[in-house]
Amino acid sequence: MSEVVNYTREGNIGVITVNYPPVNALSQAVRSGLVAALEHGQKDAEAKVLLLVCEGRTFIAGADIREFGKPMQEPGLPAVVEQFENSDKPVVAAIHGTALGGGLETALGCHYRIALSSAKVGLPEVKLGLLPGAGGTQRLPRLAGAQKALEMITTGEFVAAKDALAFGIVDAVDESNDVKAAGIAYAQKLADEGKPVRRVRDLTDRIEADKGSDVFDQFRSALQKKARGQLSPFKCVDAVEAAFNLPFAEGMKRERELFMECMDSPQRAGLVHAFFAERQVSKVKGLPKDTPVRDVSSVGVIGAGTMGGGIAMNFANVGIPVTIVEMKQEALDKGLGIIRKNYENSAKKGRITQKQVEDRMALITGSLNYDEFKNVDLVIEAVFENMAVKKEIFAKLDSVCKPGAILATNTSTLDIDEIASATNRPEDVVGMHFFSPANVMKLLENVRGSKTSDEVKATVMAVAKKIKKVGVMVGNCHGFVGNRMLHKRGAEAMALVNEGATPQQVDKVLTDLGYPMGQFAMADLAGIDVGYRIREEMRNAGEDVAPSWMDKLAEQNRLGQKTMAGVYKYEEGSRKPIPDPEVERLIGDFRKEQGITPREITDQEILERCMYVMVNEAAKILEEGIADRALDIDVVWIYGYGFPAYLGGPMFWADQIGLDVILAAVEKYHREVGADYWEPAPLLKQLVADGKKFGDL
Ligand SMILES: NC(=O)c1ccc[n+]([C@@H]2O[C@H](COP(=O)([O-])OP(=O)(O)OC[C@H]3O[C@@H](n4cnc5c(N)ncnc54)[C@H](O)[C@@H]3O)[C@@H](O)[C@H]2O)c1
Repeated sequence: MSEVVNYTREGNIGVITVNYPPVNALSQAVRSGLVAALEHGQKDAEAKVLLLVCEGRTFIAGADIREFGKPMQEPGLPAVVEQFENSDKPVVAAIHGTALGGGLETALGCHYRIALSSAKVGLPEVKLGLLPGAGGTQRLPRLAGAQKALEMITTGEFVAAKDALAFGIVDAVDESNDVKAAGIAYAQKLADEGKPVRRVRDLTDRIEADKGSDVFDQFRSALQKKARGQLSPFKCVDAVEAAFNLPFAEGMKRERELFMECMDSPQRAGLVHAFFAERQVSKVKGLPKDTPVRDVSSVGVIGAGTMGGGIAMNFANVGIPVTIVEMKQEALDKGLGIIRKNYENSAKKGRITQKQVEDRMALITGSLNYDEFKNVDLVIEAVFENMAVKKEIFAKLDSVCKPGAILATNTSTLDIDEIASATNRPEDVVGMHFFSPANVMKLLENVRGSKTSDEVKATVMAVAKKIKKVGVMVGNCHGFVGNRMLHKRGAEAMALVNEGATPQQVDKVLTDLGYPMGQFAMADLAGIDVGYRIREEMRNAGEDVAPSWMDKLAEQNRLGQKTMAGVYKYEEGSRKPIPDPEVERLIGDFRKEQGITPREITDQEILERCMYVMVNEAAKILEEGIADRALDIDVVWIYGYGFPAYLGGPMFWADQIGLDVILAAVEKYHREVGADYWEPAPLLKQLVADGKKFGDL
């Protein structure tokens, strides 16, 4: 028997056991082991029914990521699954943990499935730009029907065992936590009842029921919105539809063709890059793996505004008590009210129960008194973006907080070292930069100051994981990684409008590339006052920040969505940006004031100026060591700014465009636009001279 799959017998049940930690992934050894064990079972005259079960914490949880990007070695998974389905003896899969991707496809090749009630099943291939390529798109609809199969395959979402039972994906659910015993008992029952093989490929009820249904077109049109710009979700629909229009063998061929189209697409390469990048970022350069981590079991938040409330929710969501301190009772009540409303909305959508709403609210306490922070392990400050205010607060925290407490700031731009200098413990001060809405966006940009201790760095990375964020460690500079790049893009976007573009034209180029929203819609969401305050702070610090039509918006109290008017206008209860003739007029007046004659601006120019300016800045960020690796920048943009993961992040995207193309354009805009930030990054020049990419660094 193979080392990773073995065959034993219990009475008249032949047991095929996979044991390939940590998740029994379908490596070549597992695939060939499965075939060998199955053959053994076929030949074992004593075995009446065969059982497929896994050791460890889960059923087969998918493909082996160690084999990603390498040519598939025989036997391929579709053939393995087919052999299971062809078995003359009934085969039962007993599922615990998660049966995902190829794991679920293998289970679908078995004739019966039983799952522990704690188990989940899913076909998440779409998340890596693929579709299930071992019969999943043909077999799942034969059990679950078109609607459920489409939902599962196009979203990649997992389904709990009890739902899988209701959908017909599994035949039984067992309440115990002993998968092997449950599997054997179920197989024994089948043997005793003399149940025959039941091949999923031969089931026709669900196929007949949904044949010719308009569910496929409905799905495609829904995907136009939900999966705009993406390839694989649409291919998933095509593949599932084939199950209804073609005989099984033909459907399998169609699935293979569509699978290969996805496999060869640049989107898949982007998604695979993003997948590995996300795993890499938790390993911080220069931070030893065994760095001690401080316990964080209570948290303080300062400010119950846009960010403070969302930050507090993250901790309450994982059971950590939070104290929020505000300046005035009114602001505190308002902030707590918004938190409750957010939770109530989640409950209305069925994402959490009403009890969870109350449990989480009970973990959040409001106060006007900093003394409440005496015993907390971590304080996160989220007040106005103003250095003087923040320094005053950190001096106060220094006098109130216990030794060893971590003092963090959610500043978007300000100097962490200067904030730390207001305390006598700069080693405990760190940036924890959340993104708006803070309870939703997955990125946590952790910013190290020059004196931040390793222990504090390691702790905030661990906190990110604990609250289910993707933590990226970055260095200290104005705007850190994300906002430093964003602000260059913002400056170009503003300049493009100065020169003749409309805000909606700029936004459309960005959304056409795949961003969920454009620069100006995003400014309205964050608050026009946020950018305004940042520019004012820079002007106060003596920097040369040009006047802008956006300052005029702020001065007219057009602060974005919160005042229902910013760059766009908004209708009551809607977040849809509507172009506003008043803003057009304001921009026109500004151009006149500045003596600018507007010109026609092409979409290509907008794309180049908005994207290449970021790539050039990113090269400087890398050179200065603000980001450790290009992939850290990619992850910041995917999780903090909704950069489409299928483009792999801005650095991966730049590598696909070609750094020579980008450098030539950067040099051109440096001459034509002239702003300092267009000065070509030495690293970009070096890479082009060496014929290298960011990915080679
Ligand atoms: N809004 C965003 O998109 C965003 C994103 C990331 C980071 N940030 C940063 O987060 C911080 C907060 O931004 P925001 O948008 O939540 O601001 P906000 O104006 O919505 O909220 C700030 C809150 O802090 C309170 N406050 C001010 N001084 C205080 C003090 N001394 N003690 C207690 N409470 C005090 C105010 O009453 C207000 O409720 C800023 O540093 C900002 O740059 C904002």
